Amino acid sequence: MGITLFVCVVALVAQAVALDNGLARTPPMGWLSWQRFHCDRDCETDPQNCISENLYMTMADAMAANGYRDAGYQYVNIDDCWSAMERDPVTNRLVADPVRFPHGIKALADYIHGKGLKLGIYGDMGNKTCAGYPGSQFTLQLDAQTFAEWEVDSFKMDGCNSDPKLFDSLFPQMSVFLNQTGRPILFSCEWPMYQHRAGINPNYNLIAKYCNIWRNYNDISDTWVSVLNIIEFYGDNKGNFAQVSGPGAFNDPDQIVVGDPGLSASQQQVQMAMWAIFAAPLLVSSDLRDIDPVSRDLILNKGEVNFEVWVRRVLPQGSYAVAVLSLRGGGNKFPVSFSLSKLVPDARGKYTVTEVFTGTAVGTYSYNDTITAWVDVSSVVFRKYTSLS
Ligand SMILES: *[C@@H]1O[C@H](CO)[C@@H](O)[C@H](O)[C@H]1NC(C)=O
Ligand SMILES: *[C@@H]1O[C@H](CO)[C@@H](O)[C@H](O)[C@H]1NC(C)=O
Ligand SMILES: *[C@@H]1O[C@H](CO)[C@@H](O)[C@H](O)[C@H]1NC(C)=O
Repeated sequence: MGITLFVCVVALVAQAVALDNGLARTPPMGWLSWQRFHCDRDCETDPQNCISENLYMTMADAMAANGYRDAGYQYVNIDDCWSAMERDPVTNRLVADPVRFPHGIKALADYIHGKGLKLGIYGDMGNKTCAGYPGSQFTLQLDAQTFAEWEVDSFKMDGCNSDPKLFDSLFPQMSVFLNQTGRPILFSCEWPMYQHRAGINPNYNLIAKYCNIWRNYNDISDTWVSVLNIIEFYGDNKGNFAQVSGPGAFNDPDQIVVGDPGLSASQQQVQMAMWAIFAAPLLVSSDLRDIDPVSRDLILNKGEVNFEVWVRRVLPQGSYAVAVLSLRGGGNKFPVSFSLSKLVPDARGKYTVTEVFTGTAVGTYSYNDTITAWVDVSSVVFRKYTSLS
């Protein structure tokens, strides 16, 4: 119902660059297996939950049948442990585990597409993935081609067993190889996370140019401490990573654990609200086939929080530029109402307000008059408040 405004005072108004593949114009939404299902390979005793084509197919069934797809949750994302322990000895290509994915990834992609959803896959920059499966170190281009031929829609690249000092050249290489396949593939990078751990300051402008989404901090776990820890990291905004976020390029604070057992109902609300305020990807990692109704409603009601208000001090002294961005993926124009004093507590006096792009006068207002901006989908209302005092 109510909208939450994400207010960023004295931030840059526009993002510099974003990966240009037409994807992730709004923060991507979907499901990802890792946090809930980890590397469960025991299909004999746990056939419903082991990492297998059955898990992804049944999750896609639930997403299509129970409203998640229609609410915008599009991606069904595979994580580590999907492949065989060895590459194909003849072609050197990655192959899916023959027991757990007997029909292979292409058939799984066909199934997922048939449900109106998209398939994501996982790999690693090193010679092995974090769980010890074959990595892409010597096969970046071949693996990009393989994923494109399988008609995969998203690729998450991890950074285990590799050198984070090289990531500023390796991740761009992979991004270019994905581009050269001709298939739009959402690129999810763990590039800054490993650099942050290694004490390297990530170059977020470069990252936004080559990745659609990127993990910059630790894996989430299903605990309140973990959620708070991530919120604190985002509050610190070290290196000003919030600045590069925008259509095509988003910071990824990791999966949504709503629907898992670890958080209380109100803690789950906190995660949903904060991830929306961060303009974060919403990649749910709970069992959507079997979820309590309160958590389900929360996941489906992420609603109208997809606005950001950016404020920057400009000249003459005491004046402000205000950009109201809509990150909503659909619907009609939506009213966003606020007074300048709500954005900038020390604002005083009167202002003339104009539309920056057209120069059209909006009117003369006091610092605490409420003004409404009608914002269209994926667009901006950009106004200058010029101080009259
Ligand atoms: C590849 O990059 C070019 C230039 O940035 C862009 O126009 C094109 O849409 C990209 N193609 C794919 C498949 O990502
Ligand atoms: C993978 O990297 C490790 C550490 O650098 C090295 O010891 C190992 O030989 C490499 N394995 C392959 C298959 O390249
Ligand atoms: C501004 O707000 C104050 C109290 O918050 C109120 O007393 C005052 O009338 C308001 N001024 C205008 C112009 O709305």
